[in-house]
Amino acid sequence: MSQGKLSGRVALVTGASRGIGREIARLFAEQGANLCINYARSQEAAESIAEQCRSYGRRVLIVQADVSQEDGARRLVESTVSEFGRIDILVNNAGILTQSLVKDMTVEMWDEMITSDLRSVFLCTRNALPSMIEQRFGRIINVASQLGQKGAPELAHYSAAKAGVIGFTKALAREVGEYGITVNCIAPGPIETDMVARITESWKEMKRSELPLLRFGTVDEVAPTALLLAAEPDGNIYTGQTLGPNSGDVML
Ligand SMILES: NC(=O)c1ccc[n+]([C@@H]2O[C@H](COP(=O)([O-])OP(=O)(O)OC[C@H]3O[C@@H](n4cnc5c(N)ncnc54)[C@H](O)[C@@H]3O)[C@@H](O)[C@H]2O)c1
Repeated sequence: MSQGKLSGRVALVTGASRGIGREIARLFAEQGANLCINYARSQEAAESIAEQCRSYGRRVLIVQADVSQEDGARRLVESTVSEFGRIDILVNNAGILTQSLVKDMTVEMWDEMITSDLRSVFLCTRNALPSMIEQRFGRIINVASQLGQKGAPELAHYSAAKAGVIGFTKALAREVGEYGITVNCIAPGPIETDMVARITESWKEMKRSELPLLRFGTVDEVAPTALLLAAEPDGNIYTGQTLGPNSGDVML
């Protein structure tokens, strides 16, 4: 019997080949969960985190899928349930970041963001719900952003998608609580990942100076919040909440 806070649980983490998703997958495996690692592009990176999770003695499935597309999200969830017989924890982590002032933003850029960061959350969740409802247990953890709470220049499309994720989380939490399913958000502040590495230096300098802690976070400072929400009894009575590992950027 594996030890840990997630012993025996099955978790699906989207966009888990790098960044925040990768560290959540690693921590969940360390804590006893069997895992489905989803990735979009880098099979090598997915294999590497899968190997690390297996080194803790876990079963790991790797599935390449674009979670913003109906067939990708359906195949991903079906593969997980078919491999493990259940899905207990869904972490909707996959997302993209692009940057533009609204006055210059193309419709394509807007649509790509809403599809990648909001539609994907709906699609994976909808596919996972029947299995969670049947087993009367589920933990859905959506990775939003503090920008969904406060906004930021040049990131209106991202801020809108993430605010959508927070609203979706609250509404769904009210729908599925009776089945023993909790639905929560993590809204990190800026975290040192490949995603942030692509933002302009001037934007990062501006953002860093307004953070009470005066620094960006790291992935190992975010993943424990996901573990809190996924674990029992730690996460049992959180639902519809947005937790903020955010260097103090948003205070609620
Ligand atoms: N890094 C930050 O500062 C920060 C802050 C707040 C919120 N977030 C959110 O955290 C999540 C993870 O971000 P990160 O910083 O680790 O970024 P990242 O770019 O390092 O990782 C994101 C992963 O998602 C994958 N992905 C993107 N679209 C996908 C799709 N349609 N299907 C499958 N996979 C897809 C990417 O390929 C990548 O592996 C994102 O939702 C992001 O918006 C990040």
